[in-house]
Amino acid sequence: NTAGDVDYTLTAQKGNQLLLEGQTTETYGYNGDFLGPVLKLRQGETVRIKTVNALDEDTTFHWHGLDVPGDVDGGPHNPLKPGEERIIEFNVTQEAATLWFHPHPHGKTSEQVYKGLAGLLYIEDEHSDSLNLPSDYGINDFPVLLQDRAFTKTGELNYEAAYNSDGTLGDRLLVNGTLDPKLSVPQGKVRLRLVNGSNARNYTVALSSGDSFQQIATDGGLLNEPVAMDTLKLTPAERAEIIIDFDGLQDVENLSLVDDQGTILLPFAVNDGQTSSEIPAKLNSFEVTGEERNLPVTKRLELFGMMDMVTINGKKFDMNRIDMTQKVGETEVWELTNKPDPMGGMIHPFHIHGTQFKVISVNGKEPDDNLKGWKDTVALEPGDRVKIAISFKNKGVYMYHCHILEHEDNGMMGQIEVN
Ligand code: C2O
Ligand code: CU
Ligand code: CU
Repeated sequence: NTAGDVDYTLTAQKGNQLLLEGQTTETYGYNGDFLGPVLKLRQGETVRIKTVNALDEDTTFHWHGLDVPGDVDGGPHNPLKPGEERIIEFNVTQEAATLWFHPHPHGKTSEQVYKGLAGLLYIEDEHSDSLNLPSDYGINDFPVLLQDRAFTKTGELNYEAAYNSDGTLGDRLLVNGTLDPKLSVPQGKVRLRLVNGSNARNYTVALSSGDSFQQIATDGGLLNEPVAMDTLKLTPAERAEIIIDFDGLQDVENLSLVDDQGTILLPFAVNDGQTSSEIPAKLNSFEVTGEERNLPVTKRLELFGMMDMVTINGKKFDMNRIDMTQKVGETEVWELTNKPDPMGGMIHPFHIHGTQFKVISVNGKEPDDNLKGWKDTVALEPGDRVKIAISFKNKGVYMYHCHILEHEDNGMMGQIEVN
């Protein structure tokens, strides 16, 4: 790049999208009416992105899962006013992964995401290149962004009408912004990059045939080896890359990705294409070291509450309060708990900005095999206690919060200053 060149321009703009048949509704999108592009980055490169706010309200550009300095992380401290633009630059230091981006303006994240602001960000590296995983975009490697929406009787997306303080849900499912999708796939092994981009809905993904599939990656990178799964739970913001081998499946004519209630998420149509990727037995060298396991807990975070009574350590978010500090490059162990409330409580997907972390234990036990990889969001059921090892490569102020977006906007968020 020469000075002034940008690799990508992202404009947050208003759109008018046809979603339900015959109806258009006001939406938001990046560079289009609804949702945004897939940005493809490589480890080791310096990326310049021109961010433009063409909305008539403040927004931010947050890179969910990316290791970046706090001042380009796009948290609520970095708003762009209507009409403003900013070029941000960062180095891609982390390994191959499927990340995403979305707005994070103070108190307005949930509404802006609901209206359509979200996009994906892929990182590749030399190691991932060498693996011969399915990687032909749109041929045998597909983004699958799962979101639910409610429409009014006249076919509009109306956030206020749909609003629920415990997380806004919809009765219609969209995959990559499409209602009633169908995915044409080749015979052989196909990679799906599943992203739960919903405000609040959890999905437990399965194949309608009951066959198992292989999970190969978590939020922040490849697992050490493929993990055979019958069902896979994804809470808001969690990602998983899975491989489905369309050779040798039952009932290929009628195959869908479903969730555990039997709801069809994504029907498949197998085409004549052939794909010849192999899934190596060894994918990565992720490890929780003995040293990390033996570190004392230095930070405790208690998630509590429902609706607008949500707190972390008894407090609601305050833009002007730094809740914790940590030294750059230093690994600490945090203990996260989800304190049940008298109503039973609920799952809180807990997310930390600006880094990826390792799950050491869940309720004192070894985590499931598909949690043995880099994570930036971890789900806590009521009563759960999760220990994580975490360090930050960069300095700055970062948010941590529940990724039920209405909980985040209701103050279930805090900030850590890394210095
Ligand atoms: Cu998806 Cu504060 O993040
Ligand atoms: Cu984030
Ligand atoms: Cu929550």
